[in-house]
Amino acid sequence: MEKIRWGTLSTGYIANLFAEGLSAVADADLVAVGSRNRETADAFGDKWDVPHRHGSYEALANDPDVDVIYVASPHPYHYEHTLLCLNAGKHVLVEKPFAMNARQAKEMIDLAQAKGLFLMEAMWTRFLPAMVQTRRWIADGEIGDVELVRANLSFMAAYNAAGRLFAPELGGGALLDVGIYPISFAYMILGSPQTVSSTAYLGETGTDDRSTYTFGYPGGKTALLSSAVRLSVPVEAEVIGTKGYIKLHQPWINPRTVTLARMSQSEASLIFDGNLYDTQTVHVPTQGNGYNYEAVEVGACIRAGKQESDLMSLSESLDIMETMDLIRAQWGLTYPNE
Ligand SMILES: NC(=O)c1ccc[n+]([C@@H]2O[C@H](COP(=O)([O-])OP(=O)(O)OC[C@H]3O[C@@H](n4cnc5c(N)ncnc54)[C@H](OP(=O)(O)O)[C@@H]3O)[C@@H](O)[C@H]2O)c1
Repeated sequence: MEKIRWGTLSTGYIANLFAEGLSAVADADLVAVGSRNRETADAFGDKWDVPHRHGSYEALANDPDVDVIYVASPHPYHYEHTLLCLNAGKHVLVEKPFAMNARQAKEMIDLAQAKGLFLMEAMWTRFLPAMVQTRRWIADGEIGDVELVRANLSFMAAYNAAGRLFAPELGGGALLDVGIYPISFAYMILGSPQTVSSTAYLGETGTDDRSTYTFGYPGGKTALLSSAVRLSVPVEAEVIGTKGYIKLHQPWINPRTVTLARMSQSEASLIFDGNLYDTQTVHVPTQGNGYNYEAVEVGACIRAGKQESDLMSLSESLDIMETMDLIRAQWGLTYPNE
């Protein structure tokens, strides 16, 4: 196969970041864009030098010069737009959350598999060098047995009841927009939880302004996770093991440093003065704006004839959607048309 030919479905905030990321991928080209109207498609096309500009998503899906489509519309449209592209014979990279709920996710996966097409959730952080380094340290036993994951993604958004972060009809709330990052991180490290308990503060629009999730695993392993769209919280992720811990600084925005802390004394001589660890913060070489790494993974899978990524598998995306369904059920939060 020559270069992988990408199309982007929508022209919003993340579509622009992805276009920038793709420009750092040597064996891929952004050849097409689809928007709800031709003017925005043209403006995006001019900005990113995209030759095929379509004034509808249907026209993009049916563009014969496109191999794979990046679905970057608001959450409630991921299902419909993914089905549109798969039905037109295109591979799909769909933004997080994969869908609004597990029922939609299952249908998307079934269609991709029936059609023999590649499908992946755009959980871009999994492919970043800092995450690769983290997985390597864990696999090498640097921190012993992993017992605890702590992660948060929260920010103070400007309140807009009609915007996608708050409007129920656009899938508003912290869980689906940002909570999914710490949740997916916990899945990457500890797998599918045995128990899930959560709390939420539902704001004016009835969606979660902030929420917390505690996952339990066999043997007492635990993940303590949180997210918010109306509260700024220092953003970090930590993996804590029996022999030390790993700290990712700004883990959700292409981190360039990671800290490895190894216990310098025996567990029997616990002290609390901060001298317990030998700490090293390493620089992780990083290219592009970070969105290039997920595009590289998609390209490699398509070239290898794979229908899913080993690192962000479809069964895991489905499992995560089931867990988020369960969490919302604990709060009584449903979205329109569910
Ligand atoms: N991976 C990440 O780091 C990251 C970051 C931010 C967001 N996201 C995800 O990306 C998706 C889009 O987020 P965004 O921040 O890019 O949103 P955005 O800036 O509002 O853009 C969404 C785009 O979707 C299209 N769209 C189709 N139907 C729409 C509707 N009814 N209302 C509004 N827009 C509609 C529009 O494109 P046209 O006008 O061209 O049709 C719009 O520009 C979300 O699912 C979000 O979770 C991921």
